[in-house]
Amino acid sequence: MDLLALHQQVLEWIEMTKQLLSIHLQDPLQVEMKTGVKDIVTHIDKIIENYLVEQIRTHYPTHLIMSEEGLGDHIQKLTGFTWFIDPIDGTLNFVHRKRDYGLMIAFYHESVGKLGYIYDFTRDELMYAIDGYGAYLNHLPLKAGKGSSIEHHFIQINGKMILEADDKAKKLLTSCLGTRTIGASSIEHMSVFRGDAMGYVSQSLAPWDIAAPMVIAKELGFHYSTLYGEPIELIQPKTSILVCLESVKEKLLKSFSGYKIQSS
Ligand code: IPD
Ligand code: CA
Ligand code: CA
Repeated sequence: MDLLALHQQVLEWIEMTKQLLSIHLQDPLQVEMKTGVKDIVTHIDKIIENYLVEQIRTHYPTHLIMSEEGLGDHIQKLTGFTWFIDPIDGTLNFVHRKRDYGLMIAFYHESVGKLGYIYDFTRDELMYAIDGYGAYLNHLPLKAGKGSSIEHHFIQINGKMILEADDKAKKLLTSCLGTRTIGASSIEHMSVFRGDAMGYVSQSLAPWDIAAPMVIAKELGFHYSTLYGEPIELIQPKTSILVCLESVKEKLLKSFSGYKIQSS
């Protein structure tokens, strides 16, 4: 598989996705509840997913797809070539706030991340990584920041985790520069990778919420594990995550180890 040629093709798909969004933003928004008012899908999520799945099925019929809104395959094991798609990450933000939502696409071979893309629709910012070729923000090379003093850095954290913090977690959350919660795994990860925050923690993310960020984290040399320091099993329906600068990893793992696992 020529990774750089595939990368060019994914960039074309992302361009088309932008056009699809801008065309369909003119439609009356159709919103459906999946499990409740906090778990929704719009007709635009489905249009974007449909377009990407169709491209992959046409050009790479043997590849497998894990996709949020149901057009993908039921995958038990990561073998061969697998794509991960979150057509709109942060759908609640998309519907209710009109900002802070993103597209995520990842490509894996035999459970090794090869390509990972996060596109921030409202800021028109694209972050991606190619296995062995580094990570990029708007096509310019991206480097991980430095610094180990938590007092000078924000932490991105899922809102529910603030409410459930035990004493160890509270100590960290009050001694760092502050907490930030966006409500979109895509945009939270971008904040960390560009150096706006030292790390991001969440208790319950799906494979399409983390597959692309994991490729970017690897190229940048970020720590990426469960909240308990274990390697991520991308095939799990839900996992906790801790992604951060290597320099703060020990402190963060100690501080967040008291959370209960939330898998489904
Ligand atoms: C959600 C967002 C949110 C995270 C949820 C995800 P969706 O994605 O990334 O930040 O906390 O767990 O499900 O459903 O809007 O694609
Ligand atoms: Ca989504
Ligand atoms: Ca998502």
